[in-house]
Amino acid sequence: MHKIDIELVEMTMDVMKYAIDRLSVTQSKIGKPQSEAKLKELVGETITDKGIGGEYAFNLWKKYLTKATVPIDHPRHLAFVPASPTRASILFDLVTSASSIHGAYWMEGAGGIFCENEAMKWIVSLTGLPEGAFGVFTSGGTAANLSAMVTAREHWRENDTFKNEKGLIITSIGAHSSIKAMAKVIDVDVLLVESEDKLHGEELQHTIDGLTKDQRKRLFSVVATGGTTNAGIIDDLEGITNICEKESLWFHVDAAYGGGALAADSVRHLFHGIEKADSITIDPHKWMFSPYDCGAVIYKNPELAKQAHAQQGSYLDIFKDEGAHGFNPTDYQIQLTRRVRGLPLWFSLATHGTDLYKKAVERGIELAQIAGKMITDSSHVELVREPSLSCVLYRRIGWKPEDYTNWTYENHRKGFALVTPTKWKIGNTFETVSRFCFINPDTTEKDIKMILDSMI
Ligand SMILES: Cc1ncc(COP(=O)(O)O)c(C=O)c1O
Repeated sequence: MHKIDIELVEMTMDVMKYAIDRLSVTQSKIGKPQSEAKLKELVGETITDKGIGGEYAFNLWKKYLTKATVPIDHPRHLAFVPASPTRASILFDLVTSASSIHGAYWMEGAGGIFCENEAMKWIVSLTGLPEGAFGVFTSGGTAANLSAMVTAREHWRENDTFKNEKGLIITSIGAHSSIKAMAKVIDVDVLLVESEDKLHGEELQHTIDGLTKDQRKRLFSVVATGGTTNAGIIDDLEGITNICEKESLWFHVDAAYGGGALAADSVRHLFHGIEKADSITIDPHKWMFSPYDCGAVIYKNPELAKQAHAQQGSYLDIFKDEGAHGFNPTDYQIQLTRRVRGLPLWFSLATHGTDLYKKAVERGIELAQIAGKMITDSSHVELVREPSLSCVLYRRIGWKPEDYTNWTYENHRKGFALVTPTKWKIGNTFETVSRFCFINPDTTEKDIKMILDSMI
């Protein structure tokens, strides 16, 4: 299995050819899922005693399995938070895999971790956090949020008064589902401010003032969002940070999606206050054009993260020894063994420079504005709210929820587009509407027009 022979050389050529084809394709197809039974019928048994052979397995991949996936960088994939990794970053993802680097400790991964840290310095500089702030790359926004929340909770519990208390955090219903999910993981309660619109400082203060004595004792953190996933709304970070300071609460900003927009001069002012956060989540695999998976968690005081996360074990001592001097990413987030997942971002940043990143992010924001204007100018659709960052919520006049569902499936079935419905709260009801989220700078105005026309 580990020997080098002619079969391996041929396989390497095949895989490289596939990668070259995939990287140079300009019109990739939107694949569609098949049932597991159907996929099994197509490919048959693949895991057997003797193996089916690399060539055969790879052909199955090319012929059937890859066609049951949606390329996230398709220009008409505007669902979810899509992604659009640069070709340079994808290439270096291959290099990262080929290099087999353990990214937990400097002693093993110094060269790779050095590169990650160079990229991280740029990200930290975008936040405006003070000297000493730093971060690490994680598997994504969920892991970054979890790492930050654990740090916040552990820091809070350093005070004996709270040692045995179950924690409480406040966020809004606009916050990403991972906040609630990760609160479950660390067994803390979440109090949701019932507004999906911008969370303001006054509203937060009002919520805190309304807490019971027990709740106030248990409250240790507020999570604001720097670009809600559903609508691209940035909370009133300045107002919220002032209250967190006054009330001695940990201020976490989840900018997993919106964080890339810190690079965009046109909207940077909307993030005022982020520079006072205790921790921030930013996902390079969203709006910083990295391949999956690459998130980041940044701390104003990384030492607190180290106290919360550094793992102890006799076999690990040597890695922390003087001789291994350096930065150990494992100490600042939940994972021990880790891929140097920031390496593709580093290579892409080094290749293209940060100006092009700014430009590509600005294009996403511009596309949202263009889509907003097209929607306003059309008679069959209307904006639900003004575009925010790169998100656009709009309704097809007269459509019921099932019409949006059928339209999505039909577009997907045809391999034309993946644009999915969402819900927006108006008064006390949630209305089903359509949503664009632009990331890929190669999405064109024609793509947007074609999608809107398909709703006529
Ligand atoms: C604001 C926000 N936070 C967290 C996440 C979760 O990130 P991930 O899917 O990388 O775990 C997302 C994902 O869309 C997000 O938009």
